[in-house]
Amino acid sequence: MLALFLPPASPSPFLSFNRFPHISSPSSIPTTDLLRAASRRLVSATTKTPQSVSTMATEEDNVGNIKRQLAKIFDVSLRTTVPDETDVEPLVAACAGKFGDYQCNNAMGLWSKIKGKGTQFRGPPSVGQAIMKNLPPSEIIESSSVAGPGFVNVVISKNWIAKSIQNMLIDGIETWSPRLPFKRAVVDFSSPNIAKEMHVGHLRSTIIGDTLARMLEFSNVDVLRRNHVGDWGTQFGMLIEFLFEKFPNWEEVTETAIGDLQTFYKASKQRFDSDPVFKEKAQQAVVLLQGGEPKYRKAWAQICEISRSEFNRVYERLGVQLEEKGESFYNPYIPNVIKELTDKGLVEESQGARVIFIDGINIPLIVVKSDGGFNYASTDLAAIWYRLNEEKAEWIIYVTDVGQQQHFDMVFRACKRAGWLPLEDNKYPKTTHVGFGLVLGEDGKRFRTRNTEVVRLVDLLDEAKNRSKAALIEREKAAEWTEAELEQIAEAVGYGAVKYADLKNNRLTNYTFNFDQMLNDKGNTAVYLLYAHARICSIIRKSGKNIEELKKTGTIVLEHEDERVLGLHLLQFAEVVEEACTNLLPNVLCEYLYNLSEIFTKKFYSNCQVVGSAQETSRLLLCEATGTVMRKCFHLLGIVPVYKI
Ligand code: ARG
Repeated sequence: MLALFLPPASPSPFLSFNRFPHISSPSSIPTTDLLRAASRRLVSATTKTPQSVSTMATEEDNVGNIKRQLAKIFDVSLRTTVPDETDVEPLVAACAGKFGDYQCNNAMGLWSKIKGKGTQFRGPPSVGQAIMKNLPPSEIIESSSVAGPGFVNVVISKNWIAKSIQNMLIDGIETWSPRLPFKRAVVDFSSPNIAKEMHVGHLRSTIIGDTLARMLEFSNVDVLRRNHVGDWGTQFGMLIEFLFEKFPNWEEVTETAIGDLQTFYKASKQRFDSDPVFKEKAQQAVVLLQGGEPKYRKAWAQICEISRSEFNRVYERLGVQLEEKGESFYNPYIPNVIKELTDKGLVEESQGARVIFIDGINIPLIVVKSDGGFNYASTDLAAIWYRLNEEKAEWIIYVTDVGQQQHFDMVFRACKRAGWLPLEDNKYPKTTHVGFGLVLGEDGKRFRTRNTEVVRLVDLLDEAKNRSKAALIEREKAAEWTEAELEQIAEAVGYGAVKYADLKNNRLTNYTFNFDQMLNDKGNTAVYLLYAHARICSIIRKSGKNIEELKKTGTIVLEHEDERVLGLHLLQFAEVVEEACTNLLPNVLCEYLYNLSEIFTKKFYSNCQVVGSAQETSRLLLCEATGTVMRKCFHLLGIVPVYKI
């Protein structure tokens, strides 16, 4: 029914996103933004009499999302409380105070709107009282109260929490996935450069980008995972000529013969800089390559292939899927794109180059170099054009270090001027640059190995695995494992540790790479979390009960306060993932996961006996729900769960 009143899904989204998500801290994200939807969707459906809203849920609704459910209820109350104020949106936020679990913060803002309009209200507290009084009956709310200047606090019904968790256990955690207002996204991540090193910056991009893609996929978004590799440019002339020179039988040359492509790159660069004849040849090679000369194309493809197999080794280890559409892919589209931008009057002549000036930025965006060649920016413009028009992407997300922020800012603004993107940031289609900080070594400088060479990512991942293996062997239990199990657990823990150490920080901050810290089994590390998960699995195993059977026949009852705290936190998974997706902040999910594990261990499991207690069935189901949510978090973070330790 309600679906009839929905605004068009796109490009008029019901969610409004932060303009620069990387600038705001997670806590500063206005709940308003997240809740606009619910209220707007309800406007036409509500009447002036309070009514039960629990029956109004539609397929569209996120059943597990407490905030959204509450927003709907408060929206009904607001319509009744101030029928003349049609543009008021419910402001609902979670709160960990002693008065309640969630709060509606509309009273003060409302008061300043209606003051002097001759209403019955005397001030914010009386507005708050009315909002509370007009709340329609709902199974979600156990009790409500008004505090201070009109905050309406609500305590969530523990029966409802229990029921929601039980439904999730039966219907699957997918029923708690966010509903986002767009269908297709491009996530442009990893994107190393051919023949150059794939450095820790690319590792960060790979880890963060993969998580964002996973979170969006979980939210039923069709995600195009794009590896925008740097596979084009003048350096290829030099590389190709060097290949011909070093390997007369270059067509058969393999990775093993060339060895390390980075060393090959350095050697060719040295040759290029020192020998004018070679330089001349290399420059001609570029022209031939760009002109499509088969021999040059073939040599180029070969160099790319060698790099690619090196990149793939990193992706395989990390379990990351990517589809390569490198810079070269967009080449054929550039001339038309530049023509369109020129026709629209955006492109100007400047010192022999063709450029786009962007208001407030003193350097222009060069789109055609003075030698007539195209560059990084022209490729990115063509890529956006392609992604919008051919791939029909509604949200294009770029994951690179913060150093590229200005580049993307200029490219996006050029697209807005061209009318390819709406001017408003909360409309679709849209583009977002997801920036991240540096990885530092112990010395506080850019992360390097001891001999100041860059770190090879494969070596780094090997070390993580070997260290975690060594630590596992120390544990008594490991003696019972097969070699294959040990390998598998060592990988899960080692790679998981590297990923989690990266993802747990707000991505904008620099972080220090430290194996000892990330592999510590205490504190906020993947190791600690994976062990906590394994322990939960072992509680269930040791009970000797068939958990699948219990899901069907047992009932969750949240009697003890710590059971309730755990239950509420479990249910908050849905709104946390939505926030992490909307603001592109994986650390929000990490924080949630860490807190879940702390609540489970330090509150629930310390104070509520599970096996052998009168409440065993209910508590085993809570263990299973915690395990389920933890596994989904791991999955979204690209970490492979461990079931025994
Ligand atoms: N290859 C670039 C680099 O290594 C990153 C590319 C990012 N994506 C893009 N569409 N510009 O810095």
